[in-house]
Amino acid sequence: MTSKTPDSTDTPNIPEKPEKKVVLRVENLHTSFFTRDGEVKAVNGVNLGLKENSILGVVGESGSGKSVTALSILRLIPHPGRITQGAVYFDDLNILEMGGENLRMMRGNDIAMIFQEPTTALNPLINIGTHMEEVIQAHSSMSKKEARVRAMELLTELELPSPAYILKLHPFQLSGGQAQRVMIAMAVAWNPRVLIADEITSSLDVTLQADVLDRLKRLQRERHSAIMLITHDMGVIAQVAEDVAVMYAGAVMEYADTPSLFRHPYHPYTWALLQSIPRLDEPMRTLQPIRGSSPNLIDPPDQCPYLPRCPKASSECRLSPKPLLREIDPGHYVACYNAIEHDD
Ligand SMILES: Nc1ncnc2c1ncn2[C@@H]1O[C@H](COP(=O)(O)OP(=O)(O)O)[C@@H](O)[C@H]1O
Ligand SMILES: [Mg+2]
Repeated sequence: MTSKTPDSTDTPNIPEKPEKKVVLRVENLHTSFFTRDGEVKAVNGVNLGLKENSILGVVGESGSGKSVTALSILRLIPHPGRITQGAVYFDDLNILEMGGENLRMMRGNDIAMIFQEPTTALNPLINIGTHMEEVIQAHSSMSKKEARVRAMELLTELELPSPAYILKLHPFQLSGGQAQRVMIAMAVAWNPRVLIADEITSSLDVTLQADVLDRLKRLQRERHSAIMLITHDMGVIAQVAEDVAVMYAGAVMEYADTPSLFRHPYHPYTWALLQSIPRLDEPMRTLQPIRGSSPNLIDPPDQCPYLPRCPKASSECRLSPKPLLREIDPGHYVACYNAIEHDD
């Protein structure tokens, strides 16, 4: 008698790890600045997705279009800039087509942004306590007194010394580290579904940077927020991001979960960026500057924008239009005709 061979009906039903829902989806976004010198194509076809309860790192050299992408998502592009094409879906609503009232509600309730220079986002005439009370009251039914107590609690949670004193200060009286923590405290009080943080650790020393990143990570875990963390620093990405989008010349060159991207960088630009981070195991290794200069964004050629700097450029790259993102491994996307090969 033959024993019954196991088949699919015998395998226990192991639930797969549920896929996280994408809360914010940017599709083929184009934003230009119409200057006297011509049309600066600052964002030139960005595609990315931000998942709930996760941190997406957006990384790229200065001028690669990270901040303009963030400002476009919230429709805060200043004159002479304009979003010329694309869509930004929050849940299933296209932010770029929202009427004024919905846009205000979304900015006030669902999506918050912290800038590199946090104090510029605060009114210089109003003290920190009033700023925090306003945010807390706008997002809860607390009285002014209760809001003040909550503000104290939040600053204490963020380990700001003398919170009562900090609440009396005006924005310009805060140090860089204090200001970043106040902004994070306000984001926690607000509890937005999406938080866009633009270079918030760039001006901080390494210890403070690690601390602020830790707070951000806790915000994500405890509040299940979706956080878009913009940085030019691959080291920051390695510390906190679940997924990464690598930007160059206003477009996403590579998109993957962080371990895949670090293990298998397919785009020569990603590879170059990874070469430029200092490593603890090789402290003496010299940092590799990426050869060539940043692309001119006025009337860019139709080919791959990295072509002039790319050590792997081939005749296909020279003769073909700009490559689009394609899935090279499951969940790992690259915009390159001549992606780096990996043996394992
Ligand atoms: N107000 C503006 N007028 C003209 N060009 C701009 C303006 N703001 C940004 N840009 C251009 O857009 C490009 C992308 O800028 P940005 O998104 O700030 O880069 P990143 O944040 O990646 O450093 C840059 O080349 C920059 O010069
Ligand atoms: Mg920027």
